[in-house]
Amino acid sequence: MKDFENEYPDWKGAPHYEHGDERPSNTSANPNFYEIIEARLARRDVLAGGLASVAAGLFGGALTGRAALAQSSGLLGFAPVPVSKDDTVVVPEGYTVQVLAPWGTPITGDMPEWKPGAVTGADQANQVGSHHDGMHFFPIDGSSTDGLLVLNHEYVEPRFFHAAAWAGKAADSDAVVLSADGTRPDDEVLAEINGHGVSILRIRKGDDGQWAVVADPRNRRITGMTEMTLSGPAAGHPLMVTKFSPDGRRTRGTLNNCAHGVTPWNTYLTCEENWAGYFVNGDKIDQKPDLPREHARYGVPTDTSRYGWEKAASGADEYVRFNLTASGASAAEDYRNEVNGFGWVVEFDPFDPNSTPVKRTHLGRFAHEGVIFAPVVPGKPIVLYSGDDARFEYIYKFVSAANYEPGVTDGSILDEGTLYAAKFNADGTGEWLALAPGQNGLTPENGFADLAEILLNTRAAADTAGATKMDRPEWGAIDPRTGHVYFTLTNNTRRTQLQVDAVNPRAENNYGQIVRWVEGSEDYTATNFQWELFVLAGTARQSATFNGLALNDDNIFACPDGLWCDPDGRLWIQTDMGDLGPNQSGPLAPLGMNMMLAADPATGEIRRFLTGPWGQEITGVVTTPDGKTMFVNVQHPGAHATAEEFAAGSFGSGFPDYDGSVPRSATLVISRTDGGVIGA
Ligand code: FEO
Ligand code: CA
Ligand code: CA
Ligand code: CA
Repeated sequence: MKDFENEYPDWKGAPHYEHGDERPSNTSANPNFYEIIEARLARRDVLAGGLASVAAGLFGGALTGRAALAQSSGLLGFAPVPVSKDDTVVVPEGYTVQVLAPWGTPITGDMPEWKPGAVTGADQANQVGSHHDGMHFFPIDGSSTDGLLVLNHEYVEPRFFHAAAWAGKAADSDAVVLSADGTRPDDEVLAEINGHGVSILRIRKGDDGQWAVVADPRNRRITGMTEMTLSGPAAGHPLMVTKFSPDGRRTRGTLNNCAHGVTPWNTYLTCEENWAGYFVNGDKIDQKPDLPREHARYGVPTDTSRYGWEKAASGADEYVRFNLTASGASAAEDYRNEVNGFGWVVEFDPFDPNSTPVKRTHLGRFAHEGVIFAPVVPGKPIVLYSGDDARFEYIYKFVSAANYEPGVTDGSILDEGTLYAAKFNADGTGEWLALAPGQNGLTPENGFADLAEILLNTRAAADTAGATKMDRPEWGAIDPRTGHVYFTLTNNTRRTQLQVDAVNPRAENNYGQIVRWVEGSEDYTATNFQWELFVLAGTARQSATFNGLALNDDNIFACPDGLWCDPDGRLWIQTDMGDLGPNQSGPLAPLGMNMMLAADPATGEIRRFLTGPWGQEITGVVTTPDGKTMFVNVQHPGAHATAEEFAAGSFGSGFPDYDGSVPRSATLVISRTDGGVIGA
């Protein structure tokens, strides 16, 4: 599966538009849009008057009606920045931005210097990876000026790794250049594999106010090669057996590390999102692809993989594993099951550079965006949420079997519990459907022999249970002041008018929405909840907040993706409208470059805080404990550059070096000139 469906939310902006996609024939604004808003508001009027106090607490207080103005509570204290079409980072007046830890920054080993366009496998293993995404700042001894920055690397653009060797070749953002014999040079493949995963690097604020990367024994790269163990119900299952791991309890590497999670016991979770495309399965019956459901339901390609790593010239074991085609007499003699070791949430301790990362299988196997923990209560179960970012996929929740005990609980608590999928009803109620043996149709007769099979086939299990097919669930966040859960639904251009429902109310949804809910009795372990839409994103004409107001010049946005609620309750919203360049056309054109905004959950007030350079998306956000330094990632600058532009030596964006070299993902360090709290 090519990733273009995820990367280019609107077909008119998709340079890779292909594969016989249905062309949307109705390009006008959805005529039912305001009817939808009216219906939602009318329904909420009923809700606010008639439901239990928990619903009134969520919806009643904020319900102001369409005519009302968004109230400012003073939570947002900055002047909004305008939509941008410039190849630069813009922040509000009174704020400063520093670029830190761009792709290629040396952090370990012999600290190899960055060589633009000529990245080697060995160098990349000791340098910050590419395509920065989810991220957390782990303070050292509680400091707000010294800590470990841990950041995910979602994917790579091979053309920018090998720009020197590929000079003059027509290569777009996904392209790989094969050798004359159809193979790929081993070291190109190794560099790309090592560009994935996670970077752990110590950073410190100097007396001059500038942050710097510090050499430290805890600095580490985890890559697509790092050995990992599997834990939980699917570990050791026959479908996990490979030539590398005949006992089905080990695997190599983590891939497409999108968003993340931070556990209450201070470890880091990195999540595997669009992993299926890295593999290929050529098994056929009667000349037709013959894939098992644990491959087919996730879109494993049948012709070639995304980067062709299985074509490495040496045929070495660590590369041929990406070819799932059966070649041996049994699963222990080939890599037919290699992909079953992917699609999981991976846990590691950032403070222990020698620890082996663990794939926690009870959290389900799907295109994990991130993991969001509910606030923990000693003596109560752990609860977490995770979205499956693909069209018509689901939102999940996990409730641990054991109770949380501070100082005692560790990652093993994630190995036993119940995984649920969300069903959103039209009346504003919702249900959590247990994906457990014998429940919701998950029986041996229906093809689910045991819990391991349910987890390996999480999507199929949620299909059977009857969960609600969503518009690409991305990040979630929890407002610490109210406990309400928020989730971004980034877009879904494939939803038809016949497929709309209350929580996914727009056909041909170019713009996305944010949903929020409160669990039954305000207990995160509840199996029922109350929900509403927080905002329908889009242009002024196409948008509305929960109180019925349209967005305006200060806050129009689309395709919400990254989401985080800071300790004061500011809801930070990041956009991934695709690889937008300055000459973008189509429905997203009025929105400019990808951006970050801040919202007041109580009033619905939203202000644009930051805009990024050409081609990128903004993703990953966290502050230091004092709230005075914010870290934000810029991912894939220059990705909009066409194959022809690359061939002509033009890389789309100058960010962050602006010296004609290849663009690179990087972390932005944002502070206020008056030293205040970010966003306040
Ligand atoms: Fe990697 Fe769903 O964004
Ligand atoms: Ca993206
Ligand atoms: Ca994302
Ligand atoms: Ca996205």
